Amino acid sequence: MEKSKTVFHGSDLEKIEMYYGIPKEDIISFSANVNPLGLSDAFRNALAGQLDVITSYPDRDYKKLKNAISDYCHCNQEHVLVGNGSTELISLIIRLCRPGRAVVLGPTYSEYERELLLAGKSCTYVTTREADQFVLKEESLTTCLCEEISLLILCNPNNPTSSLITRKQMAHILEVCKRFDILVMVDETYMEFVPDTDSVTAVSLTDSYDNLVVLRGVSKFFAAPGLRLGYAITGNGPLLSAVSDKQNPWAVSSLADAAGQLLFSDKEHIQKTRDLIGAERARMEQALSAVDGLKTYKPYANFILVRIIKEGLTSSDLFDMAIRRGLMIRDCSSFFAPDSSYFRFCFMLPKDNDRLLSCIREFLA
Ligand SMILES: Cc1ncc(COP(=O)(O)O)c(C=O)c1O
Repeated sequence: MEKSKTVFHGSDLEKIEMYYGIPKEDIISFSANVNPLGLSDAFRNALAGQLDVITSYPDRDYKKLKNAISDYCHCNQEHVLVGNGSTELISLIIRLCRPGRAVVLGPTYSEYERELLLAGKSCTYVTTREADQFVLKEESLTTCLCEEISLLILCNPNNPTSSLITRKQMAHILEVCKRFDILVMVDETYMEFVPDTDSVTAVSLTDSYDNLVVLRGVSKFFAAPGLRLGYAITGNGPLLSAVSDKQNPWAVSSLADAAGQLLFSDKEHIQKTRDLIGAERARMEQALSAVDGLKTYKPYANFILVRIIKEGLTSSDLFDMAIRRGLMIRDCSSFFAPDSSYFRFCFMLPKDNDRLLSCIREFLA
């Protein structure tokens, strides 16, 4: 098989190591969308002191953890569910929603479709358009909704386009969905990277719309994908009970329980992350838009979608060139198949971003 045709996921460092012979420690992952600051020293030290929590089962109701989440998200503690990564909650919610078709706003994260198909549900994509910079035109979505649909899945900000649905748009979508009894699952995995998160997040809408469930996790913003801690917020009583009933007991480990409580209150690190990503997002967007042969789309998350518009060059060619320098970007061919002109990368530390920028410039020179 030709090397440049294989598409690697953000978490595929072991595969890359085997394929290219580059030790995974030498690879900077611009494709996993994880906060480059990693863990704070304060968190690391505090958690190390709590290692003995693993000698007991966690609290089955996760009261303290849910309390920490409700403080962090400004929501009712009774409306919080916790899970083994947001992945577990995506899966449970899909399996529990009433029979019917599901609509997914694409192009987006592929796990929704995989889970829908595993649950035996059909999945219809409504897609945002390149001509609209992948920004949602509400009517194109709302006019497709009807009684036969039981679930609408939105990722906000969206992976891989980094585009944003405003709260006003979200409220309108929820209103239309309420009429048709459609549950709306909003995946806010990347919401905390957005400028002014509090004014955009759909969390506050869970008080007025019981057909809404918002998903989040600590994998990206808190740089803890190995912890496997996700949460959901919903005012939907039957859904809250159904998830709790179906979920395996102790789905979140006592270490993740303790770690979550520390992470959500690490205010200094939260602010540091927001400042770094905000600055690098503005700087990188500006630098890339000045490169001939590229088109950028306005990013709101901690990553940017870019299109190569120079004849004869593809995203897999760029992937290949970058990985040989230890820089792993995401070739987006799988999101936009058969188009192979899109790539995505997340903002890392300024010196690493500069290395990637030089590589991209050389690629297009
Ligand atoms: C949009 C989106 N949702 C969910 C996940 C998975 O999150 P978790 O690690 O919390 O299961 C990812 C991971 O890449 C993602 O991009």
